[in-house]
Amino acid sequence: MAFSREFIQDIKDRISVSDVVGRKVRLQRRGKEHVGLSPFKSEKTPSFTVNDQKQFYHCFASGKHGSIFDFLMETEGLSFLESVERLANEAGLAMPQRDPRAAEKSAQRANLAEVMTMAADWFNHQLTQTNAEEASAYLQRRGVDAALIKTFGIGYAPSGNAGLVAHLQAKKVPLAQMVEANLATKPDNGGQPYDRFRDRIMFPIKDKRDKVIAFGGRAMQADAKAKYLNSSETPLFHKGSVLYNFSQARQAAYDTGQILVTEGYMDVVGLARGGIMNAVASLGTAITAEQIGQLWQLAPEPIICMDGDEAGLKAAYRVIDRALPLLKAGFSLRFAHLPVGKDPDDIINEQGREGMNTLLSKAKNMVDMLWERELELAQTYNTPERAAALKRKLRENVSAIGDKDVRALYGQEIAKRLDNLLGTPNFNNNANNNGFAPPQAGWKKRKPLWGKVPVRASRALLQSSIARADTQWLPREMQIVACVITHPTLLITHSDAFENVTLSPLLSKLRFEIIDFFDNYTPPDPDGVDKERLDKTALTGHLNARGFVDAIDRLEAMPMARRLRYLQPQTPLAEAATDWLEIMDTHHKLRELEEAKAEVEAELETELGRDGGGDAEGTLKRLTAIRNEMATLEHRNR
Ligand code: UTP
Ligand code: MN
Repeated sequence: MAFSREFIQDIKDRISVSDVVGRKVRLQRRGKEHVGLSPFKSEKTPSFTVNDQKQFYHCFASGKHGSIFDFLMETEGLSFLESVERLANEAGLAMPQRDPRAAEKSAQRANLAEVMTMAADWFNHQLTQTNAEEASAYLQRRGVDAALIKTFGIGYAPSGNAGLVAHLQAKKVPLAQMVEANLATKPDNGGQPYDRFRDRIMFPIKDKRDKVIAFGGRAMQADAKAKYLNSSETPLFHKGSVLYNFSQARQAAYDTGQILVTEGYMDVVGLARGGIMNAVASLGTAITAEQIGQLWQLAPEPIICMDGDEAGLKAAYRVIDRALPLLKAGFSLRFAHLPVGKDPDDIINEQGREGMNTLLSKAKNMVDMLWERELELAQTYNTPERAAALKRKLRENVSAIGDKDVRALYGQEIAKRLDNLLGTPNFNNNANNNGFAPPQAGWKKRKPLWGKVPVRASRALLQSSIARADTQWLPREMQIVACVITHPTLLITHSDAFENVTLSPLLSKLRFEIIDFFDNYTPPDPDGVDKERLDKTALTGHLNARGFVDAIDRLEAMPMARRLRYLQPQTPLAEAATDWLEIMDTHHKLRELEEAKAEVEAELETELGRDGGGDAEGTLKRLTAIRNEMATLEHRNR
């Protein structure tokens, strides 16, 4: 079957060649192109190039050349029809009906596009007319000079009722088509259609091929009912799949490797005034997944520049949620923070290009933005429940990430930050802090943050469980304890961490014995050079006397004791401490993940019991995320 040119082009516009080719060929970006080893001929140096902008690939080794469709036909043996079907599906486009009217429809769309261009030309021409004085003055006041007017095709819709309608009628455009293009409005009372845009500055919105498909019209009066009036959806215009100025920004984005995303038309124009051409605008709506995909065709880390107000921040936060499921290796978003009450246009006005570049250079990474958002929304985390709520929220965000590797790395990063933030928490209402107790160093052990009483109580509890012979020897826990026995001096700065780490009963008992020894320890020579050294022989002597002979033997005999540097006495304390803190960290995270896993597994069971499986798929995804994260952590201290 024959497809319309528009349909084929639509698919090409939505799926980049590098995406399709990248599944078969490892591509590297080189300027405007991607290069890789030819999939058609075996070679050692890459001669295969992909140009997303021109929408083709070219193989210098074999001379093969073509589009995304050709690539699938060449490499997967698909027919043309099959390749179109596959890629249309991927692009989220319905296959055209086998319908004789299809050709007619596509002709209609082509006509509609012509009508839009006629309208844009007419609006632009109106700016030169005498009744446009106010509009010209307005543009001038806002720094939009003749060059910018030309670059963006800006125009003016006069206040008369049917100026455009009359103009188009003279050009033989049927009224129905003006209405379809949303350039004219048909009154309910059946009267004559009249101009939809009146007394407004007109911004043509173009598609990827630089064809006008819609307009945004700005009122000039500050008290106008609608500041902007935009074309509503038409056969040409689907708001969520268009970015303002995409076609013009493309070149500049390729040249700079960067693309900026603003909220408004005037921001894009303002940035251009400052010489920054690689900017698009999201048309004032929430950024869609499709738009993020388009942005990634231009640059790997587009910078979101929302206005510096509450709404702008909220919009940026929404972008995070949109983007999480889409993140993939090498592709993310960054976020520029604009001063309160300012938009990019203001920044150019007040500080010029330099000012904007400074803000851009400070743009935040996705992971920082996500982290800050959750801390801000949480407000406080100064009780165990509030801290747990924050932790849960962050965990939910991480599990929303679609890509396995990216998700696992986010999991690790967030866990690390949580640990730093909550540390050994001091959930004390009197403390005038947010639950973060700054670390204290010093010779004398500070008071346990959890208070003596619960610790002693849990000690009694643990000892009773030892009576049930519930002993476990987990390698990670063994390492934690063995390291302290080998380097008792660690306790001078880290006895709290050691006291609070969760250990299985027997090792926990040994741990408290070590801490008791430390509590009552007096250095043999308090003023000597060795005053900051705890005596290992004294410690093991004490432990042996307390009946831990077998336990100590077992710790010393474990194979890891010889393999891991930090378990060896000759290793410098600073190095041992670093590794020890790391394994404590891993241990802590893994315990949490185990808990989370149990929780999610229980959830999954409930969901599978439900009609239709509930949201089992989502839960399963979370479970996989947790498992992946655990596997990564398990490997960390090998
Ligand atoms: P802004 O209010 O920030 O507009 O809305 P702006 O483009 O920066 O214009 P100036 O500088 O105030 O003149 C951002 C975008 O939101 C959409 C438009 O796309 C606008 O560019 N919008 C805004 C509407 O569609 N309708 C409105 O009433 C307001
Ligand atoms: Mn604005």
